Amino acid sequence: MPPVPVVLALTVATILLTISPSIAWRPWPHLKTNGSDYLYENSKKFEGSSELVHLKYHMGPVLTANITVHTIWYGRWQKSQKKIIREFINSISTVNSKRPSVSGWWKTVQLYTDQTGANISRTVRLGEEKNDRFYSHGKKLTRLSIQSVIKSHVTAKSKPLPINPKSGLYLLLTSDDVYVQDFCGQVCGFHYFTFPSIVGYTLPYAWIGNSAKLCPGVCAYPFAVPNYIPGLKPLKSPNGDVGVDGMISVIAHEIAELATNPLVNAWYAGPDPVAPVEIADLCEGIYGTGGGGSYTGQLMDGHDGATYNMNGIRRRFLVQWVWNHILSYCTGPNALDQ
Ligand SMILES: *[C@@H]1O[C@H](CO)[C@@H](O)[C@H](O)[C@H]1NC(C)=O
Ligand SMILES: *[C@@H]1O[C@H](CO)[C@@H](O)[C@H](O)[C@H]1NC(C)=O
Ligand SMILES: *[C@@H]1O[C@H](CO)[C@@H](O)[C@H](O)[C@H]1NC(C)=O
Repeated sequence: MPPVPVVLALTVATILLTISPSIAWRPWPHLKTNGSDYLYENSKKFEGSSELVHLKYHMGPVLTANITVHTIWYGRWQKSQKKIIREFINSISTVNSKRPSVSGWWKTVQLYTDQTGANISRTVRLGEEKNDRFYSHGKKLTRLSIQSVIKSHVTAKSKPLPINPKSGLYLLLTSDDVYVQDFCGQVCGFHYFTFPSIVGYTLPYAWIGNSAKLCPGVCAYPFAVPNYIPGLKPLKSPNGDVGVDGMISVIAHEIAELATNPLVNAWYAGPDPVAPVEIADLCEGIYGTGGGGSYTGQLMDGHDGATYNMNGIRRRFLVQWVWNHILSYCTGPNALDQ
């Protein structure tokens, strides 16, 4: 798909935020939204603009038990690519990474609780994995066929993925030659839960696509930029893989939202559960202090010229911030003022 014009993309993103559940549009910063009681208003320092955000708890469950992430690698994945993603997920609860760290980023997610006051789990670990090398459901997936893919892996004859509705998350990661409904034009990933009528269980899942071939300037921004914006230069990605480095922030976005809103009845803003605005939606495009509008915020530059904002196990990552409901702004481990 050709990249969509930024202004159109932003408009579509804004509209989608109000009509479509649990999408992750990233990473273009949002248009200033007007006429909405829960999106944010004009602000030079968005993370300070809180008055209009009414993030509420809707009494549903959140993931308070140790979280296990089960992964389906759909299509062709290189070992090196899997490694980057696995190390990111493993970094979430690794305490000894250099600061600012991925585990420091997760601390904001841990601030959310359920009705009993239990916090989101500190522990997130890799679970089982399945490879779907031969594109079992083709190279074009829809929101519903994604559920069929998950079904085929939780019911596989050989080594099915464990059924773990209370603390398992299921990630479907599609390779760069797979198109998923709404990919690129509207979303880079989304999360939801499976329907018992299709899968047999209610399992929180997310899909995230590798945009390297289809739309890196849209979904792997700022490591790729749309070519219709003259003069805009891409930043160097920290792990040498533009598509996968771009996926990391979307994966982080989805895991944060799955933990706090796994069945889309827990933490979200907005009057309508069909259009929840969740803790990562509120901070898309913000990676550092001062972020907002068209500015990513202050990032870090490695000796090798790569741009990142947090450290994990042996690697650096660029990950968007998430909403802190106690401070009422977006926060991250690399914040300069905390
Ligand atoms: C934003 O909304 C307010 C009230 O709804 C209106 O008065 C104002 O003109 C709007 N601003 C823009 C830029 O549309
Ligand atoms: C648990 O959540 C409460 C309320 O947000 C917060 O004050 C507390 O620091 C959290 N605990 C952890 C370990 O994050
Ligand atoms: C949860 O993970 C922690 C390590 O982070 C471990 O000590 C604990 O035993 C785990 N609990 C369960 C129920 O597996």
